[in-house]
Amino acid sequence: MDTLSAPEVLFVLGTARDGRESEKVFAFVTQVASERGDLAILRADVRDFPATRTGGLSPERAAEWSSLLTRARGIVIVAPEYNHSFPGELKLLLDSAYKEYREKPIAIVGVSNGTVGGARMAEQLKLVLIAFQATVVNAAVYVTTAPETFATTLPMNEPFWRGRVNGMLDEVHALMRG
Ligand SMILES: Cc1cc2nc3c(=O)[nH]c(=O)nc-3n(C[C@H](O)[C@H](O)[C@H](O)COP(=O)(O)O)c2cc1C
Repeated sequence: MDTLSAPEVLFVLGTARDGRESEKVFAFVTQVASERGDLAILRADVRDFPATRTGGLSPERAAEWSSLLTRARGIVIVAPEYNHSFPGELKLLLDSAYKEYREKPIAIVGVSNGTVGGARMAEQLKLVLIAFQATVVNAAVYVTTAPETFATTLPMNEPFWRGRVNGMLDEVHALMRG
């Protein structure tokens, strides 16, 4: 399949924190996705959708977010664990749309500097995705000890992480509708 006819998947970087390790993970995940050839890549960074309150996105940014979600046939969220949950800025962005998520497969890549890999964050985020009536993808990726794992652009033990990401993306692809 050429990427022109490939289904579009939206990859969301879910933290705006200065010095975010998740940015390196996001770059790797989108690189692996683009190398497959069976997905077309859309990207969104929460930093580009600033909101300080619920419903606080500018009309232009809200329209762009809605448009990206409408185009996407699947979504992958890369987000760190902050106090066992997801970043507040990610929730503000997710809450600025609703119907656009319905029945779309959404997968989670958790990031942490400890050994849990954002798993507690992912479990909480799944509950939010259920509220959107999205299709929660079971095959999450949990990136542990992120600063060490991603000390360079490519992760330590790259084949392992590549395999995990591709397994998740296989599931996103299989659950797409239309
Ligand atoms: C406010 C805050 C809360 C955090 N809480 C947790 C946590 O509950 N569990 C955890 O494993 N790491 C936690 N961390 C550390 C993150 O795992 C660490 O920042 C990691 O590099 C991934 O996030 P990043 O993209 O912000 O760098 C926290 C970090 C911040 C800034």
